[in-house]
Amino acid sequence: MEELQKASKVAFASTFSYYLKAHNFHWNVEGIHFVELHDLFGKIYEEVYSSIDPFAEKIRAIGTYVPASFQRFSMLTQIEDETAIIAPEQMLQELLEDNMKIIKVLKLVYDQAEKFGEHGFSNFLAERMDAHRKHGWMLKASLKNG
Ligand SMILES: [Fe+2]
Repeated sequence: MEELQKASKVAFASTFSYYLKAHNFHWNVEGIHFVELHDLFGKIYEEVYSSIDPFAEKIRAIGTYVPASFQRFSMLTQIEDETAIIAPEQMLQELLEDNMKIIKVLKLVYDQAEKFGEHGFSNFLAERMDAHRKHGWMLKASLKNG
């Protein structure tokens, strides 16, 4: 159970970092494709943000506390921070790579949740992986046109 708790905190912190990066790109994207990319990053950050509270509550339900500070997030996250203002294509590429990392960490938690018979949690994680597959598709498709 401790493994599940640990893995879920890593996935939660990574999800929060991913959400923040998508929001960062929504705010700071520039260029000829501004409108489309502002909207695409907007859709992604809103969707991911909508999972944050249910995710946190699932973590509480497996008997542990939720990491919820920038310091804890930076200790746990698998998503590297972006502090520079980068080109639109780089934003798409970076978010696509991060998206693949998110799916990977979610899968680790999913396997743990299944192992410990936490089927409600694994069901939630399966839905999150599905949502991120959709984000991956949209990011990839946008890169092709870029
Ligand atoms: Fe906005």
